[in-house]
Amino acid sequence: MSTFSGLEEIVETDYEIGRRTWYGLGGPADYFICPQTVEQLREVVERCNENDIRYYVMGFGSNILVGDNGVRAAVIKLNGPQFLQTEFSSEGRQLVAWAGVDLRKLVRTCVEKGLSGLEALTGIPSSVGGAVKMNAGGRFGDIGAVVESVTLMDGQGRVFEKSKPELVFDYRQTNIGARFILNAHLKLCPGDPEQILRTVKEVWVYKENNQPALNTKNSGCIFKNPRGVSAGVLIDRAGLKGLRIGGAVVSEKHANFILAEKGCTSHDILRLINVIKDKVREQLETELELEIEVWE
Ligand code: EPU
Repeated sequence: MSTFSGLEEIVETDYEIGRRTWYGLGGPADYFICPQTVEQLREVVERCNENDIRYYVMGFGSNILVGDNGVRAAVIKLNGPQFLQTEFSSEGRQLVAWAGVDLRKLVRTCVEKGLSGLEALTGIPSSVGGAVKMNAGGRFGDIGAVVESVTLMDGQGRVFEKSKPELVFDYRQTNIGARFILNAHLKLCPGDPEQILRTVKEVWVYKENNQPALNTKNSGCIFKNPRGVSAGVLIDRAGLKGLRIGGAVVSEKHANFILAEKGCTSHDILRLINVIKDKVREQLETELELEIEVWE
């Protein structure tokens, strides 16, 4: 019996997973699996465990760099119908957003409904699951501020909830250890739709003015901000804007972004990352830590 027999409809083998990331770089994954339901996800996890197959969970691939040799693992993406649901409570203050929901669309829906809480997340290309996992956000706030509880699945397929205060959000991290975030319960508050839209526009304009355009190939900020200093400022101060290795270039607009230009490989980006870390360490005595995940 083959590893995923009976699940053929949701499993692809030797899948060019790099295509699914914002960088669009990197080699294939042994398996690419899109469970349609929680039950199917449990089945997939069981099969992976039985067959000693490592797995990664993928959101929208905006914070991931896949190595040129790909990954000898399964990549699981929660984009079946069950994972795309949004359920607003009658008064609109409570929202259950499932892991595969597009955060940008969710921000728009909340603007239309006159619900405040997600404005700070404007323009972040993420799934809800990915955003919660890394507490996505920026100078205007992060998603952790509105999450009340999450429904999780562990590596044994057990489903359980975690709520605040046990659930803790910190700068670009959470204390969620479970492998899968199934959904998040968000607390919103009714507000003036015009004011909400104004805030969304302000955040959008700030990003447009300060970050590379969305049609460039990049993965957002590469490094975390050390101790509240902008990593971009440090890299800028080290004189590294415009530095190029192969097809990978440090953005002239915001130094914490690396653009992948024509012919770029994941190896180019990884080499550039190392050069940046070395130079910032030598010149500014600061150790930069990756914000993006590298899958190899
Ligand atoms: N700046 C420079 N040179 C640069 C980059 C920035 O002088 O090369 C200056 C800016 O002009 C600004 C200050 O540094 O005065 C701070 O820059 P910014 O507002 O862009 O903030 P950041 O700390 O660099 C964070 C997040 C971004 C998020 C922005 C805006 C991190 C690592 N980065 O950047 O998040 O978009 O705030 O909210 O937390 C991401 O997570 O992928 C990401 C892009």
